[in-house]
Amino acid sequence: MPGPLFEDKVALITGAGSGIGRAAAIAFAQEGAKVMVSDVSKEGGEATVALIRDAGGEALFASCNVAREDEVAALVAKTVASFGRLDCAFNNAGVCHAALEIDMDVFRRTIDVNLMGVAYCLKYEIEYMSKHGGGAIVNTGSISGLSGAGTVDYCASKHAVVGMTRSAALRFATQGIRVNAVCPGAIETAMTAPLLADPAVRAQIEGMTPMGRMGQPEEIADAVIWLCSNKASFVTGQAIAVDGAFMCR
Ligand SMILES: NC(=O)c1ccc[n+]([C@@H]2O[C@H](COP(=O)([O-])OP(=O)(O)OC[C@H]3O[C@@H](n4cnc5c(N)ncnc54)[C@H](O)[C@@H]3O)[C@@H](O)[C@H]2O)c1
Repeated sequence: MPGPLFEDKVALITGAGSGIGRAAAIAFAQEGAKVMVSDVSKEGGEATVALIRDAGGEALFASCNVAREDEVAALVAKTVASFGRLDCAFNNAGVCHAALEIDMDVFRRTIDVNLMGVAYCLKYEIEYMSKHGGGAIVNTGSISGLSGAGTVDYCASKHAVVGMTRSAALRFATQGIRVNAVCPGAIETAMTAPLLADPAVRAQIEGMTPMGRMGQPEEIADAVIWLCSNKASFVTGQAIAVDGAFMCR
């Protein structure tokens, strides 16, 4: 019988203090990975570590604001120093602001986290992986990276994530590094909670999804686990929608 998918492997996850990142951190640990749980929120990140340890898994917390290149460089270095290697990275930290008008301050803040944050992660993860036998990277895109659903700043940042994913996959394909994106539809997390508090808005969002419901963070985590595992060994450069058929309409 095969063992867990990530036995003796190390996974780094950003935005792991809540929602999709937390679900993925728990799923990696369940599949045997040692997990570097990272978030700008110490409280959220440490709570994720506690959940993993209570279930018998191995995890450490490292604080990191992905909008800061020096902090991302230090995060990758700390992961390797703590666990001895880096095999999988889930670049998931992201923000979504409610501003409907085009506000340039909001635009810059979204780009700083959603675009530059992923770019910094790719740079330092690939720098390590290209010298140490490769690895698998998943970036969190969105249906807003595949369509115009969402605010202008958010759509711009998530289209960029899909573009960076495809370009990095091509560039590093011969170095044993696979790079994919997972593109969630409407998922029930802290990010969507303020919207879902209004039953009419919840019904509207559910109505836009052909499956007629919101997704759960664990349903995104399952796709990330598959993409990072050897079961997806010939899959790279893909932006996979996990969206209850939202993108099929
Ligand atoms: N929830 C959805 O419907 C949905 C849909 C599509 C895409 N996404 C994307 O999924 C990802 C995760 O979102 P979620 O829904 O789990 O939201 P969430 O708010 O539950 O989690 C986001 C986490 O990212 C952290 N974070 C925010 N800014 C950061 C920064 N600068 N550096 C490090 N960490 C930071 C937050 O502290 C939080 O723990 C995001 O990239 C988001 O854009 C979410």
